[in-house]
Amino acid sequence: MSPRPSRRALIGAAALTPALGLAAWRRPEGAPLDPPTMTTVATLADAARAQGRYYGAAVRAEQLRENAGLRAAVLRDCQVLTPEIHLKWNSLEWRKGEFNFAPVDDLLAFSQRHGMEVRGHTLLWDQGTPGWARQDMLQRRDWSLMSGHLERVLKRYAPRITDWDVINEPIDTEAGAAGLRRNVFHQAFGPTYIERVLEEARAHAPQAHLVINDYGFEYDNPVDQARRKAIVALARRLRASGAPLDGIGVQAHLDLSKGPLAVEGLRDMTRRLIDEGLEVTITELDVKESSFHGSAAARDQKVADETRRYLETMLAFPQVRGVVTWGLSDRFSWLSEPPQRLHADAPLNRGLPYDADYRPKAMHHALSEALRLTA
Ligand code: G3I
Repeated sequence: MSPRPSRRALIGAAALTPALGLAAWRRPEGAPLDPPTMTTVATLADAARAQGRYYGAAVRAEQLRENAGLRAAVLRDCQVLTPEIHLKWNSLEWRKGEFNFAPVDDLLAFSQRHGMEVRGHTLLWDQGTPGWARQDMLQRRDWSLMSGHLERVLKRYAPRITDWDVINEPIDTEAGAAGLRRNVFHQAFGPTYIERVLEEARAHAPQAHLVINDYGFEYDNPVDQARRKAIVALARRLRASGAPLDGIGVQAHLDLSKGPLAVEGLRDMTRRLIDEGLEVTITELDVKESSFHGSAAARDQKVADETRRYLETMLAFPQVRGVVTWGLSDRFSWLSEPPQRLHADAPLNRGLPYDADYRPKAMHHALSEALRLTA
């Protein structure tokens, strides 16, 4: 484990949103039995903090600015925010040399005002790399472009953001090379681009928690099985070579169409990662519905059951330091945008803790209960 001060301790110590627990609601004589929904649900921040963990959500600064309902939900539940889009290279520098830092700066200012932390998602992602940089890397294989990007972003943000998804989605067991995705970085610099990037990230952000973040570990099928092995193999390789890696981010985009969760496989993977001295963060939790059949309540129950099963498995390990959902309200979910959403009339996916009108759903309750479990 890293010698740096535990992130969990830092977040646990922060004074955050006030609790709105059951005690906040008192039923006046003759009032209807159902209490107002918002005041009956314990905050996810409180639930997580009680176990030395954190809860957070991915957001976009402009959505927070424009939607009071989302803001209220974020303020009551989140200790941590992840910028859903705006820290990616193609958002920061869509055109070479023209920088767009404002949305991340705004999110940081908001989080600072409200005593929250921000996760750095993400320094490097094939799909988040601007076209001009891809072309340049492939043609010239010039590492200085990569170095310049890492230095610029970390010098600006590392003092405030101390938890980084340094590399996003480096694994590919189907079309990859030895389990690694043949992304633009692999093509330009070979498989050790990972070590080099981690080294440079550590040099610019010596106090930060450095993470490799990936998806596709949850189900009992040959692809997920291979991916679980591949992430463990990568972690071993990096730890053996002394690369400065502190943790693995498991995205956890759950999907009801993929059958039962691979509970044993998940346990085994997590134990092996921990045995390598790594911490684990659940970085992008949400649930994709398979059919949209049934009432909203029935759909919400399925989503909640899947969430609960997953978290009960993962949060049995104290080294799982936090849970971030990929959004907070169904109104703003990548699963409700094309191409995930097949047509404009399709129902919204209901895979986040709040519905589109910011009412907490069964998933919120499942998260709250699971976060309270003692590891
Ligand atoms: O802002 C432009 C808008 O001006 C334009 O009209 C529109 C046309 O397509 O595109 C808009 O940008 C889109 C942006 O989301 C905002 O909606 C991008 O095309 C779209 O690619 C972008 O998608 C994001 C994606 O990452 C790529 O950055 C998703 O919202 C975001 O949820 C998703 O997040 C990823 C994680 O980073 C990594 N793990 C998987 C996860 C889900 O794909």
